[in-house]
Amino acid sequence: MSSQSQSAIILGTGSYAPENVVTNDDLAKIVDTSDEWIRTRSGIGQRHFAAKDEATSDMACIAAQRAIEAAGIERNEIDLIIVATMTPDMPFPSTACLVQSKLELPNVTTFDMQAACSGFVYALSVANSMLLSGNFSKALVIGAEKMSGILDFEDRTTCVLFGDGAGAAILARDTTANVGILGAIGGADGSSPSLLQQPGGGSAMPASEASIAARQHFLKMNGKEIFKSAVRVMGQASSDILEQVGYTAEDLDLVIPHQANMRIIESLAKRLKIPMEKFHNNLDRFGNTSAASVPIALDEAFRAGRIKSGDLILLVAFGAGLTWASTLIKWQ
Ligand SMILES: CC(C)(COP(=O)(O)OP(=O)(O)OC[C@H]1O[C@@H](n2cnc3c(N)ncnc32)[C@H](O)[C@@H]1OP(=O)(O)O)[C@@H](O)C(=O)NCCC(=O)NCCS
Repeated sequence: MSSQSQSAIILGTGSYAPENVVTNDDLAKIVDTSDEWIRTRSGIGQRHFAAKDEATSDMACIAAQRAIEAAGIERNEIDLIIVATMTPDMPFPSTACLVQSKLELPNVTTFDMQAACSGFVYALSVANSMLLSGNFSKALVIGAEKMSGILDFEDRTTCVLFGDGAGAAILARDTTANVGILGAIGGADGSSPSLLQQPGGGSAMPASEASIAARQHFLKMNGKEIFKSAVRVMGQASSDILEQVGYTAEDLDLVIPHQANMRIIESLAKRLKIPMEKFHNNLDRFGNTSAASVPIALDEAFRAGRIKSGDLILLVAFGAGLTWASTLIKWQ
């Protein structure tokens, strides 16, 4: 096992899901689908959709507020804010700046992280490195998404899979040996961007009447190909981080995987040869909330008493890009 004298620990977590719960049966009234199809193919039973006037930053703020309270810190102790999102309030300014302002947080280093569904796990790794640099002491890291704003409710192959929400964590530098973030991996293969993308609205296809008429501002996905890649990279990212830090899958107390599809999670459990009881899943209640999925599940697991001092926890995610990321945490 590799040894480290300093690391970032998670002081507290928080999460938020919008009030509006949309069941599979509700979606079956809009597109040609059924509760049975959605449950058996994905494991999703319902999801939360934000209100029309509820933006990603609004959800992020509530999750952040809860994380600050759980961490027991003053907001002016925060000197780094990262928001992982692929559904920002607007292209710029960053959602992180909007959160900073709405919560009256200090004027500190503040930026968005765009690594799609891997975003929060990527952001944890970046925050960890910045804290270890010695230039920062407490980071607010958020994953927040309003996926309902980019879903095509005429496309049954995608609109049934995603949901909205936010999760947050407060990280702090700690000098206790071998606790906190023990290691992190982030990877990407950008060679096939069209497998999962929102083609319109950027510099390649600025918004126009034609782009809107062609529904180019909605999420497009080749589900079958993404599924195959996800199974491969989730397994690899998990094995690689365990090997890098010097643990085996048997040592894991809890796995918090990106909540995209229960069959992908089951195949990860099979590959790691660990029982599904060691996974914390909430896919049935939230759907895929992209960058918010891992921090919402982490917060749930912590508040449900599933995380104890000394536990070894694996966070692992994949997303559009293709991107993937894993983090191994020894809870303090
Ligand atoms: C999308 C996904 C659930 C589809 O499951 P699948 O078993 O691959 O299903 P298929 O795409 O083969 O579709 C099977 C059939 O169901 C149909 N179908 C697709 N969506 C449907 C829906 N919501 N309701 C009912 N039928 C549907 C298809 O049209 C197809 O019909 P056909 O056989 O007559 O052509 C699965 O591929 C998946 O989860 N992929 C990964 C997606 C993901 O994780 N994305 C997020 C990345 S962060």
